[in-house]
Amino acid sequence: MNNRSTKKTLNILFVAAEAAPFAKVGGLGEVMNALPTAMRKMHHDVRLLMPKYASIDIQKYPMELEIGNIRVATEQEDPQGLLVSNIVKHTARDKSVTYFLENMEYFEKRANVYGYIDDTARWLLLSRASIEFIKRSSWKPDVIIASDWETGFIPNLIKTEHKDDIELRHIKTIFCIHNLRNQGTFDATFVTEIEADSGQSILPPFFSPTIKKLNGMRRGILFADAIVTVSPTYVKEILSPQYGEHLEGVLKERRDHLFGILNGINTKLFNPSTDPLLKTRYSVREISQRKSNKTAIQSRFGLEENPDAMLFGYVGRLDEQKGLSLIQETIKPLLNNLNFQLVLMGTGERVFKKFFKELVGQYPGRVGVHLEYSDTLPRMIFAGADVTLIPSRFEPCGLVQMEAMRYGSIPLVRKTGGLADSVSEYQPDNDSGTGFVFEEYNQYAFLIAMVRAYESYRNKREWDKLIKRAMKKSFSWESSAEKYIELCMNVIKK
Ligand code: GLC
Repeated sequence: MNNRSTKKTLNILFVAAEAAPFAKVGGLGEVMNALPTAMRKMHHDVRLLMPKYASIDIQKYPMELEIGNIRVATEQEDPQGLLVSNIVKHTARDKSVTYFLENMEYFEKRANVYGYIDDTARWLLLSRASIEFIKRSSWKPDVIIASDWETGFIPNLIKTEHKDDIELRHIKTIFCIHNLRNQGTFDATFVTEIEADSGQSILPPFFSPTIKKLNGMRRGILFADAIVTVSPTYVKEILSPQYGEHLEGVLKERRDHLFGILNGINTKLFNPSTDPLLKTRYSVREISQRKSNKTAIQSRFGLEENPDAMLFGYVGRLDEQKGLSLIQETIKPLLNNLNFQLVLMGTGERVFKKFFKELVGQYPGRVGVHLEYSDTLPRMIFAGADVTLIPSRFEPCGLVQMEAMRYGSIPLVRKTGGLADSVSEYQPDNDSGTGFVFEEYNQYAFLIAMVRAYESYRNKREWDKLIKRAMKKSFSWESSAEKYIELCMNVIKK
């Protein structure tokens, strides 16, 4: 980037369904906190708008009214039928601004972010209210960055209903895909072609039954000035039927506007030399200190306490996307034939929960699980586990592999999406690579990678070198934030 272009300060508004620390379900929430923060460090005015859920702690995050009486029409025939909401504002200690959409019925009464029967209506409300807010606000964004299907209606509205609006028509939109699979309240796989949303029709009024069939993902892709996805490899993958989730056609049409920018991680929080959660803190020069973190995690999960036992870890959603079935299909023969331990943390599909709960009983002292979400356990696991498993079927970016590497836990990954972009194959003969990588999505490929990891661990000298290489990899947000800013500048120029 040249110096001249960095001089202009941009106003950027992120709109998303979730953002840490207010309400976080997964990786999207994490990114919605870290990315704006990194962009602010580059002296741009970056703000975020999200719904105010019942679960948000308003004592901790006090809010004041910014704009009241935000109106969204409910029925076309009846312009009096209006849904009224407010925009409230929280200013953090670092002066960063987050706006919240306050609506009792659709958000404030709901504790969860996702999973309601009227989700599409809720997200359409968020999108429409964002637009009404911008129209009335004295602070105007140059660019809106909308994330995932929930906010794909924003580029759509700006380019159609509001295209002649003097306050809006100069605003550019970037649509960011964190996970192409989620496209609406229906499952895209089961929608017939006739029923599928072409993305071209006028967005229906709020109480219309057709709302349920809207595909926010397709609309975001069709109308945004630029489309970003969270890794360069995922960009290539989603242009194919295997990963395209029925949208490879529109994505190909808009290929010239499609970019891949790898996420970063919060290197301040994920830092083994300062992390207060660890039994013993360590830097890349003190990796032998990982041992006491291993015994700490063994004790916590009820495993035999032995710093030399090889420990595998899994941290994340228990979801088909994450490749859990590969672990399920191979773990018993592996445990029966090789001497290692396994800890697993996360919540998700019931079948997986049941399977792993039973596994603990079948392999006492060798397998331990925590089947709930935790904010703190992942870092302790990364500090103690020798290998972290991420055998995903697909992975737009994935944060766990980068977080694990930072703590010297070696990632074992399938070569897909962001995993392919952030983990390179271990090659002891030329001192390169940071993890174990397998290509085909099947239990044989996974099993072979597991055996390779197990065997490699026995060579302590080489393994220590591997840990050091992984820990030295840099995944800070800085360079990704620069790329986002550059993209914002480019869409503005057009
Ligand atoms: C989604 C994707 C994950 C990505 C995250 C943040 O959760 O599944 O791969 O890391 O979004 O972009």
